[in-house]
This record gives sequence, C-alpha cells and structure tokens, in this order.
Amino acid sequence: MPAVSRGGRGRLVVMTGAAGGIGTAVVRALLAESYRVALVDNDKCGLDAIQADESAAPTFVCDVANADQVDGTIAQIEEHVGAIYGLVNVAGVLRTGPVVRCGDDDWEAVFAVNALGVFHCSRAVARRLITRRDGAIVTVASDAASVPRVGMAAYAASKAAAVAFTNCLGLELAASGIRCNSVAPGSTDTTMLRSMGTGDVVSAAVEGRSDLFRVGIPLGRVADPDDIATAVEFLLSERARHITMQSLYVDGGAALRG
Ligand SMILES: NC(=O)c1ccc[n+]([C@@H]2O[C@H](COP(=O)([O-])OP(=O)(O)OC[C@H]3O[C@@H](n4cnc5c(N)ncnc54)[C@H](O)[C@@H]3O)[C@@H](O)[C@H]2O)c1
Repeated sequence: MPAVSRGGRGRLVVMTGAAGGIGTAVVRALLAESYRVALVDNDKCGLDAIQADESAAPTFVCDVANADQVDGTIAQIEEHVGAIYGLVNVAGVLRTGPVVRCGDDDWEAVFAVNALGVFHCSRAVARRLITRRDGAIVTVASDAASVPRVGMAAYAASKAAAVAFTNCLGLELAASGIRCNSVAPGSTDTTMLRSMGTGDVVSAAVEGRSDLFRVGIPLGRVADPDDIATAVEFLLSERARHITMQSLYVDGGAALRG
C-alpha cells in the first residue's frame, strides 16, 4: 500500500452547518489542509459572514431537513463546483426540557435536522461517492448520544440515531472504499452551548452539577471549536484510511468512557 499522503490536495468537501461555531472552525481547518469546501447552511447571513471572513468558498442556502433542497444543492455542487470527495454533517439544533413537557413539535424539529438532515445529506453524497469508489463522511453527533442527560432526551435520541445511521452507512459503503465516522463533542464553546441556560454555563459544564447528574469535565475546560475541527479533519483524511464506523469522543473525558 502506498504511503499515507497528507492534506486535502484540493479535494472538495461539503460542509453543512458551515455558518455555526463548530462549522466555521471545521471550514478553517479544512482550508488550512488544502481541501476545497462547499458551505451549506440555512442561515444566509451567517454564510455571507463566513464567506467574507474566511474564504471565497461557494455557499449554498439549504434546509437539510428538506430532501428536495438537499438533492438540488448536492446536484448543483457537483455540476458547478466539482466532484465531491467528502461530507461533514455539522448542522444541528438543540431543544431542551423534560420529556413530560416535550411537545411533538419539539421532538420533530430536533429529529428533522439532527437525524433526517444527516440522512438526506449522506444519501445524496453517498450516491456520488459510490460510483467513484472513494470518499469519507463525518457526522458531528454529541456525547449525549451515549450518556443520558437530564432535559435532553429528544436531542440525545436524535444524535444516537445519527450515529447508528452513520455506522450502518459505513458498513454498506466499506466495500466501495468509503469511510463513515462520527465525532462526538462534549460541551463546546459556541452559541449553542451558551443558549443552554442562564448563568455561567461554561463553569457549570466544567465543574459538573449533581442535580443534573453531570460529572463535569475531567480535563477542566469546555472544548474550543478548533478541538472538534481537528478531529473532523483527521477522520476525513487519509491518515484515518483504516478507520470506519467509529465515534471519536472529543469531550475532555466527560462521558467517562473506558
Ligand atoms: N456546542 C456544543 O456544546 C455541542 C456539543 C455537542 C454536539 N454539538 C453539535 O455540533 C454541531 C454544531 O453545533 P454548534 O455548537 O456549532 O452550533 P451552532 O448553533 O453554532 O451551529 C449550528 C449550525 O447549523 C445550522 N443549521 C441549523 N438548522 C439547519 C438546517 N435545517 N439546515 C441547514 N443548516 C442548519 C445553523 O444555522 C448553524 O449555522 C451540531 O450538530 C451540534 O448538535 C455541539
């Protein structure tokens, strides 16, 4: 087998949730490793801002929960930008609250993006990758996918669905040389984390809260979005060429996984 080559070498990666905190960091990390990126998000202003700040990468306003929009966007990217090598599913939403107060609309809204959106985007991209027998998909899930969290049932279940889906897809695509993995962030300093409550949510995450059965973060800090981006870039790259159907936890040890 030839030596592992480093860097993206101009390969094209589609990024959903590109306008968010973790998405922006992933875009920066991929550009630094010589990938090309196509930025997808439903927030047009956010896309315009990241395009102005970070790159002249092409942007696509698209709701990942809408299969027709996703299929159209992926077709447009293939036609006007180039052949897709990889997909990073970052788009996500969070709604919190106890199950007894979780409405059907809350459950559906969370699953529409975090699970259905991952399915729509992965299916559309996999259809292209499979014909070329090359590529990689990385889904940004959450450590909540495997650790029960108070007030986060819908979100945790949606992320567990995304991980299970990504692993099954990885199994189906392995024979075509395509790898599918997940990154499971713990608390990461973005607007999503800061929307989780009043007060100092960062200190609460680090120190833990016995009333919420949260043990805190053994490494003593919340993640910076760049910590997540590094893991995503690794899993996309050829350095991870023998890794598929795995979840890489980037949570400072918060999930206490042995
Ligand atoms: N921040 C954390 O502590 C944390 C922890 C674990 C997992 N995550 C996951 O990491 C990912 C990124 O989170 P973040 O912290 O950067 O949040 P963020 O809110 O900053 O970014 C989320 C992005 O997804 C986009 N998005 C939402 N719905 C969409 C839709 N229907 N179609 C297209 N784009 C849509 C938003 O516009 C936004 O740009 C999410 O999947 C989130 O669940 C975050």
